Amino acid sequence: LKWEVITNDGVERHSKHLVALKNIFSKQLPNMPKEYIVRLVFDSRHKSMLCMKNGNVIGGITYRPFPKQRMGEIAFCAISANEQVKGYGTRLMNHIKEYAKETENMTHLITFADNNAVGYFQKQGFTKEIMMEREKWNGYIKEYDGGTIMECQLDGQVSYVD
Ligand code: ACO
Repeated sequence: LKWEVITNDGVERHSKHLVALKNIFSKQLPNMPKEYIVRLVFDSRHKSMLCMKNGNVIGGITYRPFPKQRMGEIAFCAISANEQVKGYGTRLMNHIKEYAKETENMTHLITFADNNAVGYFQKQGFTKEIMMEREKWNGYIKEYDGGTIMECQLDGQVSYVD
């Protein structure tokens, strides 16, 4: 597997990968409006960590950095259906944690998890209890019905990938 963080910066290869990722999100997150997924994945303020297998995008995470707050908001996270339950979702989250900590200088990741994904996020070290000061995230995070806000504190002493 290969891991890469890209944005919609006009590079053709990046556009192709973002289209592939957007298609995975649309399939795997059927309750999310497709236009909303397109808008965020291609928004220049968002970045995407790709999970690539044999040159193909098989999953990823789209997130928005909030540098002043030293946090990142995970907007979408998915692995394509035929590649699920192989541990890739765990590795994907570990790679985004390491990148957030080392490259983005973040202390927290936050997400509004689908109710059926709460178990997955809990296994990845996210909690429903938000330790971050409310004024840091309140008003930044998009909330929607049928979801739960969850937080993951990043430990500067921990290496999340080998
Ligand atoms: N609920 C509870 N546990 C889960 C779930 C779930 N929905 N999905 C996976 N797990 C568990 C697995 O059983 C596994 O547990 P184990 O380590 O004890 O064996 C662990 O979480 C990780 O499994 P992986 O194989 O690493 O995960 P996978 O590659 O299947 O990816 C993912 C997990 C990304 C959630 C995938 O199932 C997926 O794309 N689902 C559909 C999209 C989705 O729900 N995304 C999150 C929505 S919320 C958001 O995007 C902000």
